[in-house]
Amino acid sequence: MPTLFDPVQAGDLHLANRIVMAPLTRNRAPDAIPTPLMAEYYSQRASAGLLITEATAISQQGQGYADVPGLYGTEQLDGWKKVTAAVHQAGGKIVVQLWHVGRVSHTDLQPGGGKPVAPSAITAKTKTVLIRDGAPVFVDTSEPRALDAGELPGIVHTYQAAARNAVETAGFDGVEIHGANGYLLDQFLKSSANQRTDDYGGSIENRARLLLEVTRAITGAIGGGRTGIRLSPVTPANDVFDADPQPLFDHVIRELATLNLAYIHIIEGATGGPRELPDRPFDYAALKAAYRAAGGKGAWMVNNGYDQALADQAVQDGADLVAFGKAYIANPDLVRRLREGAPLNTPDKATFYGGGAQGYTDYPALA
Ligand code: PHB
Repeated sequence: MPTLFDPVQAGDLHLANRIVMAPLTRNRAPDAIPTPLMAEYYSQRASAGLLITEATAISQQGQGYADVPGLYGTEQLDGWKKVTAAVHQAGGKIVVQLWHVGRVSHTDLQPGGGKPVAPSAITAKTKTVLIRDGAPVFVDTSEPRALDAGELPGIVHTYQAAARNAVETAGFDGVEIHGANGYLLDQFLKSSANQRTDDYGGSIENRARLLLEVTRAITGAIGGGRTGIRLSPVTPANDVFDADPQPLFDHVIRELATLNLAYIHIIEGATGGPRELPDRPFDYAALKAAYRAAGGKGAWMVNNGYDQALADQAVQDGADLVAFGKAYIANPDLVRRLREGAPLNTPDKATFYGGGAQGYTDYPALA
């Protein structure tokens, strides 16, 4: 029986262990450009089997927060090149999380001050972060406009171009498609956010169409073996809800099974919150079984609130990878600490979002 510390293959990616650094928004990329401090931060954590970057916008339209990085301009790609070089130098593997926030944005962040885009013109009851007079402020998201069907091929193409740039120019080992947490692709999936009456709304097949088109476009460009995807069947994050998530995700996972992906990354329960939601039951074991039954060979990555005991149990129950979020903020050498049963540093919430080295690159490793 493998343990967390044994190597594993995830598509084309050979990973030294099964411990993954989860994607974590840190808002330390002014003008959306990755910095040398970010290279230091990620390379400090390179002993993880896999690093997943913070969510990274594929276009300015896909931006929803101040000081989160992008992957669509030359300076952004150059910044990421330095990050991937530092991680590889330290012996790590790193994929970039491809992000389009959809309606979780603000007119101040959008091209020409326009409305954010969404499957339907329904405002998310959630906040975003802007910088005003040099200080971060939480503001309501703006009312979005519904995307015209004619705009969707352009969005698919933008994802594909970002994936190509990620591996060919920025030096990433692969990409993770952000299909979770109430952002654009999840907005299309979930019944509360998608009230379209065209081929991209209504039935399960229609609501899953954009996510699957994006995934096929990316695997066609860079190969399934370098592509992972993140899903959150029942998270309430960013005000999404689906009336019947089990058959929705059963369909999604069976279609994904045909694409030879590197991994499937599942957020169990409420992102960063309870793993079980009494009003939103979901059978994750059935989801995984459906994936395998449909021929899916990708690594199965679990996420949300894992500690060592829960992670060990998950690996025994057949998970291939376990993602750690907050623990990775505070413990650059998390793999060693878990292996040695050493105590963990406590993350400081006050420095999660924005700022500089404090609470970012200054958490101590074991001597
Ligand atoms: C956030 O910036 O708050 C954020 C980003 C990506 C997620 C979740 C939250 O998946």
